[in-house]
Amino acid sequence: MKTIPSIRPMLAGVIGNPISHSKSPKLHNYWLRKYNVNGYYIPIQVEPKNLSKTVDSLKLLGFRGVNVTIPHKTAILSIAHTITDRAAIIGAANTLYFNPDGKITADNTDGYGFKQNICSKVPSWDPNNGPVVVIGAGGAAKAVIHTLLSEGASTVKLLNRTKSKAEALAETLGNKVEVIDWYAIDEALQGARTVVNATSLGMIGQPKLNVNLQNVVAPALITDLVYNPLNTDMLKQANELGHNTVDGLGMLLYQAELGFTNWFNCKPEINIDLREFMMGSDNSSVQKTN
Ligand code: ATR
Repeated sequence: MKTIPSIRPMLAGVIGNPISHSKSPKLHNYWLRKYNVNGYYIPIQVEPKNLSKTVDSLKLLGFRGVNVTIPHKTAILSIAHTITDRAAIIGAANTLYFNPDGKITADNTDGYGFKQNICSKVPSWDPNNGPVVVIGAGGAAKAVIHTLLSEGASTVKLLNRTKSKAEALAETLGNKVEVIDWYAIDEALQGARTVVNATSLGMIGQPKLNVNLQNVVAPALITDLVYNPLNTDMLKQANELGHNTVDGLGMLLYQAELGFTNWFNCKPEINIDLREFMMGSDNSSVQKTN
């Protein structure tokens, strides 16, 4: 009798606490099914005290790597053997690769996701073609500003409700980041060519983002990291004024692309079907589109 060789499924997942809110399992499992990959992507709840032990266990189980979410994004750096430059500068990682030699590489793909999302919709976007304004100074903002500077922005005007956080971020990212008072937002936006909302304002259940884009020179690039709702009030206003707009869903999708490609040896496509799937409430299996 002929025996069929068993092919070991490829494993990856996301570690965090809590983890039930994470959209990553929905996204990665969509791609696994779409591309017929013999693999699983699993949400794993991990308490901070168990972080190191869990990562060791996942390596033993043969995981190829994991995504990392709150509250482990900074602590994970002390466990990694190699940290990419961008993760080191940002001080946080969202993607781990477990290398065949047993070593762990930590990367931060948020900035990559931010850039790819914009370039996929507005290929001509150049962060060096005029003033850049970023609203918000949390973890996501840090990755965004690091990317804007790496991509050539000469200065970034940064506004945050808690000014000390903006100042701390500017301290880390260098003197091209100019901290502006939260209440001087209208002034800061004058003549801007790229505007990013990196706060949670405008998200369902959160207060509105009060922003007036009247003095932003059209067509500027206006992007919102909020993707729930997709068409935020800021983006609606920007569209009415003739600006180029990019919603926040693509950043979530593109930041996942690098991990999936590395773990499962397959570069996934980001298209309208995926966007609709991610925004839908239906978690059932996907229809293959190719
Ligand atoms: P993320 O990792 O998504 O960036 P975060 O680190 O919690 O999340 O950052 C949230 C951002 O939204 C911060 O810039 C925060 O401003 P503060 O630093 O002042 O907290 C901003 N934010 C959240 N709620 C806000 C509100 N009601 N008004 C103004 N800014 C708000």
